[in-house]
Amino acid sequence: MSPSASNNNESSPPAPRHIAIVMDGNGRWALQKSQPRTMGHQAGLKALRAIVEHCGRIGVKELTVFAFSSENWNRPEKEVNRLMDLFMRALDKEARELHENHVRLRFIGDVRAFPAAMQKKIAQSEDRTRNNDRMTLNVAANYGGRWDISRAARALAEDVAAGRLTVAEIDESAVSERISLGTGGSPDLLIRTGGEIRISNFLLWQAAYSELWFTPVLWPNFSPDHLDQAISDYHLRERRFGKTSEQVHQKAG
Ligand code: FPP
Repeated sequence: MSPSASNNNESSPPAPRHIAIVMDGNGRWALQKSQPRTMGHQAGLKALRAIVEHCGRIGVKELTVFAFSSENWNRPEKEVNRLMDLFMRALDKEARELHENHVRLRFIGDVRAFPAAMQKKIAQSEDRTRNNDRMTLNVAANYGGRWDISRAARALAEDVAAGRLTVAEIDESAVSERISLGTGGSPDLLIRTGGEIRISNFLLWQAAYSELWFTPVLWPNFSPDHLDQAISDYHLRERRFGKTSEQVHQKAG
């Protein structure tokens, strides 16, 4: 995964700062080719590599991808094991390349459920890339939006119990400070491939005002051109954050 030098056209509007993606459709892609589902995940990793590179080129600063949900443990054991093998290999090879290209790698989710060797590699790759500031790749692994919100609620309760916070101080920013990706971690654009029109427990808090973009394209077939299409559509949206269209235009004008 190696984003090359930015060639963002001067006249085109700036890319969204933060894009999130539900990478769905690996299994169906493999099925269409009469291949095992694992091959779909492998092809999915290849597609992700191309998208990371493209994001780097066009100036996206943060990319958050749903790699493994808290519900994915319910898949056949063989598929889960193969996914773990793929993650392990990716953590070796891709993390090195990301680092060489000044990309920070971060994991969100309850990684304590993963094998110890994988947890170690996750921690090492996060440590190694911590100071990279070209772009951040957030990988959601054993992640669920409800888990995230519950964890933030627990952290708030602990802080109140310890006297570090009063109940009256609990507001949206107090929650944002304790949730994955933190304050300012909201995606501008959330993409889901694979044809389903739902969020599936991804970034429930953080995506409150994200622009949503759905495509039937299966993730392994999702290319930089598809991403450009999503971004063009995003630029046609009017982000009002609860205000009226007139207010938005007054401010812009
Ligand atoms: C959903 O497609 C995809 C996954 C559960 C796995 C996604 C993982 C990758 C793309 C590899 C990324 C690797 C790293 C290291 C970030 P699905 O299997 O649910 O597809 P289906 O809906 O067609 O069955």
